Amino acid sequence: MRNVVVINGPNLNLLGTREPEVYGTETLADLDAAVIAWGTALGLGVETFQSNHEGALIDRLHHAAAPADGVVLNAGALTHYSYALHDAIAAIDIPTVEVHLSNIHARDEWRRHSVIAPACVYSIFGRARRGYRDALRHLVWRTASPPQTIPYGETAEEIGDLRLPDGPGPFPVAVVIHGGFWKDVWTRDLMDGIAVDLTRRGWATWNIEYQRVGTGGGWPRTLENVADAIDALATIEHGGRLDLSRVVTVGHSSGGHLALWAAGRPQLTVGTSGAGPRVLIRAVVALAPVADLAEAHRRALGNGAVEAFLRRGPDSGSDRYASASPIALLPLGVKQVIVHGSADEDVPVDMSEAYAVAAADAGDRIVYHELTGVDHHGILDPESGAWRTAATEFRDLIGPATAG
Ligand code: DQA
Repeated sequence: MRNVVVINGPNLNLLGTREPEVYGTETLADLDAAVIAWGTALGLGVETFQSNHEGALIDRLHHAAAPADGVVLNAGALTHYSYALHDAIAAIDIPTVEVHLSNIHARDEWRRHSVIAPACVYSIFGRARRGYRDALRHLVWRTASPPQTIPYGETAEEIGDLRLPDGPGPFPVAVVIHGGFWKDVWTRDLMDGIAVDLTRRGWATWNIEYQRVGTGGGWPRTLENVADAIDALATIEHGGRLDLSRVVTVGHSSGGHLALWAAGRPQLTVGTSGAGPRVLIRAVVALAPVADLAEAHRRALGNGAVEAFLRRGPDSGSDRYASASPIALLPLGVKQVIVHGSADEDVPVDMSEAYAVAAADAGDRIVYHELTGVDHHGILDPESGAWRTAATEFRDLIGPATAG
């Protein structure tokens, strides 16, 4: 990936004054400058373009094909009804990421549907300007290591990105689970870098999406999705390249919660359709995890994210806390590696320290790394020392990375 064109559609020229409570106070010129700077940092040449006219946007997409190898597109309201834009994206055959500043799922009913999404390789919404940066990053990662996106259920969210190392395998499998306090605006691109790095280290990676609060998820649906995604490994066509006796989960933040929960699943009925797991988790790597839901609720982490996820408070819903909170499921019976930065302001590090003590007391094998000065997201940068600490642990997790 070298050259990306970032295209903004109708009314986005009015950024800064247009409904600032929805779109912020930054102007389009500010946004374009930020986008170019992010692109430069990623080694990309970025061109920007804005038009209020459908035909001009289509022309720009047609012209993108020659100099650009990726497109980031905020089509404004055309998103919701322009089949002509859909067709233009499909016609040029260069990866296009759809972006929206606002959370289109939390506004008017008619904004929920994007007719251009099926032609795009990925959609990002509700992350304000950061969404553009994340779109550029996603283009870089998916070009460096193209995933195979595979459905594991019926909704658009029940999909995952499978990446396989070179060679015949069979490879151990890392189920990669993103965080974001179970909220709809955060999706699996957050874990692209980690997934690509682990694939390079000899792991098959299955970077899963799941229904989140706001897109049909929350307790118990999110948990069922995660369980289904893991069990789907047993039916995915992979030519014998996945070693299903060596499957681990790796998750960040609320994805760390889901990664730990998945390992404790044999004890539960939620998410197992009563039949029990088809694929067992052998070990967990949890990065800055939300390992104790009751404590996370008490501390109001993620602005009340735990209540929104469980759909009730801790007193009335103790059964849900018991069945969904990793600390309540101990011992999990598998090795766990917890990596947490001391400068984490989103999920305080002492929660992991307490979890590690509880897990060891319950008889689980646990390795705990507290990383000085690392914040909540720093751990996800595959170039960072923080991630290298976690990645090194994969070597001893369940034996060597390639089958002996
Ligand atoms: C938008 C969302 C659209 O629904 C709206 O019509 C826009 C902007 C966004 O960036 O949030 O113009 O694409």
